[in-house]
Amino acid sequence: MAGQPVTMPVALAPVGMLGMQHADGEILAARAAAKAGIPFTLSTMSICSMENVAENTDQPFWFQLYVMRDRDFVDRLIERAKEVGCSTLVLTLDLQILGQRHKDIRNGLSTPPRPTPANLLNLATKPRWCWNMLRTRRRVFGNIHGHVDGVADMRSLSSWTASQFDPKLCWDDVKRLQDRWKGTLILKGILDREDAEQAANTGATAIVVSNHGGRQLDGAPSSISALPGIVDAVGSKVEVLMDGGIRSGQDVLKALALGAKGVFVGRSFLYGLGAMGEKGVTLSIDIIRRELDITMAMCGLRDVRNASQDILALR
Ligand SMILES: Cc1cc2nc3c(=O)[nH]c(=O)nc-3n(C[C@H](O)[C@H](O)[C@H](O)COP(=O)(O)O)c2cc1C
Repeated sequence: MAGQPVTMPVALAPVGMLGMQHADGEILAARAAAKAGIPFTLSTMSICSMENVAENTDQPFWFQLYVMRDRDFVDRLIERAKEVGCSTLVLTLDLQILGQRHKDIRNGLSTPPRPTPANLLNLATKPRWCWNMLRTRRRVFGNIHGHVDGVADMRSLSSWTASQFDPKLCWDDVKRLQDRWKGTLILKGILDREDAEQAANTGATAIVVSNHGGRQLDGAPSSISALPGIVDAVGSKVEVLMDGGIRSGQDVLKALALGAKGVFVGRSFLYGLGAMGEKGVTLSIDIIRRELDITMAMCGLRDVRNASQDILALR
């Protein structure tokens, strides 16, 4: 998958703020992924910094980059990712404008949580989460905090971050970042043929057909519906991966049958992390692996690379 050997064609998707789902969440998820032999992707918007994760794990991980207006900061992120030994850069292209997330707005989501009466009441019902959060020092955006001039306190960190996603990102920027990184590059957040063709022309190793877990635009097509057309357009030029709604091993096999070479999972491991920390991530990966294995057997497949539309009941 993306040029690297994995035990099954599944990677943990970049998910921001894992360290809020569970204290030190990024480190725990990275460890679980390493034990399972699949890639872990650290988000730019992680709580544990890439240095924290590298110091506390023994396998290389992937780093996901958001392109910020402050290009010096972006360049420094790339250099830091190289220094800590990240093996792949996943460049996310579909969050240059933040979608309207009504629930986040209504709930007043912030890092760290604001001590509102509703939040305090909620925290009182989660003593284990509170205990673990009190025991860790990692509670802010670790990749950013301390790495940007003029951003010292929590308030300025939040407003800096919110203002930094750069809506002017273009294909020339992608080329420039690729030249800086020089290693394996995956472009994430492709949903139509034209973008897929542009992405394939950059020479990236892989693209991820993704609608960002449905978090950006209500009404955007599902990734699984966009997948076959994109595979048809660029599947011979670039490795096509996909994510969005993969909740079981059977979902993995369906995506492979429709031409994906691998999938990312987001919420599937996130729920495990929130419930049981590292053990929960391991369990979620094991469940997917067993389901995939059994589904392959039921379909008469011994090698996932042989999955084709023949195993699907398409009309
Ligand atoms: C809570 C949450 C945070 C996310 N944060 C990021 C992020 O920081 N960077 C990114 O590229 N994608 C992010 N995503 C999108 C995921 O990488 C992935 O595309 C999506 O979750 C896949 O859908 P699934 O959750 O149904 O598996 C996030 C998704 C969720 C649910």
